[in-house]
Amino acid sequence: MHVSVFSPASPQATELLWLWNVCMWVCGFILAAVTLPILYIVVRYRRHGENEPPQIAGNKRLEIVWTIIPLALVGFLFVLSIRTARAVDHHVSREPDVVVTGHQWWWEVAYPAANAITANEIHLPVGRDMLIGIEAADVIHDFWVPRLGRKIDAIPGRRNFVWIRAEQPGDYEGACAEYCGAQHAWMRFRVVAQLPAAYDSWLTAQAAAAITPASGDAKLGQTRFGELTCANCHNIRGINKQKQYGPDLTHIASRKMLAAERLENTPGNLKNWLRQPNIIKPNCEMPDLKLSDGDLTVLTALLESLK
Ligand code: CUA
Repeated sequence: MHVSVFSPASPQATELLWLWNVCMWVCGFILAAVTLPILYIVVRYRRHGENEPPQIAGNKRLEIVWTIIPLALVGFLFVLSIRTARAVDHHVSREPDVVVTGHQWWWEVAYPAANAITANEIHLPVGRDMLIGIEAADVIHDFWVPRLGRKIDAIPGRRNFVWIRAEQPGDYEGACAEYCGAQHAWMRFRVVAQLPAAYDSWLTAQAAAAITPASGDAKLGQTRFGELTCANCHNIRGINKQKQYGPDLTHIASRKMLAAERLENTPGNLKNWLRQPNIIKPNCEMPDLKLSDGDLTVLTALLESLK
């Protein structure tokens, strides 16, 4: 079932939608007040030379009126915007609960207090005000979950903040809202709002190191993960630890989607992604390693074991 992005699911999004609606009505009024008289005049005086209206130069009263009305409208919208901004953005007085970093073209999601890190899937507990820090690793991106909150730019070298309080459990679509290169359209993510107990157990599981596979294809995959260059970019905590460059894979099998919502996370899709990342997502940073069928099978087995 598809829910409209205009169906707010947080107090922040409710405020924003209200302001958006007021602006739309004000703009609709202006549109009507300008176009209807023009249409009337075009039709009424369409024949040249007939019914020529009296020619007037200057009208002080009219000019005062059409100066005051726009000023009043702009002032009205300004006051409402300040009011909404105050309702949506609380004072930032503590460390963020979640730090989200935009990369070309995926989102890193860190929970500093729990020492957990994941990608493209942000879990939040319902009913709690969550402070999200927004950063960027390369170029300017923009974090946007229409049903939960406002847009906020992700800017390299700077941390921005957004407050989100999800009221109902569910999955909420998010997207990058600032053009950032070839795969901007596939820089999507999801927010999964959960009841607090479910959120806590999810966070505990994400913070844990990977369980090293004992045998079979997954074990072979672990060896190949090190031998091939996968381990230079991707972390699997408990198996290797690099400076994070690509998405953290410690619990990749627990995620619903692959490659920033590009593919559903199934074994077949995962294997296909490893086989031809640049066909599925042209220009992405994930290289085509020309993996053999054997490598594809054991690497898929390894990643599928990382629940
Ligand atoms: Cu990142 Cu658009």
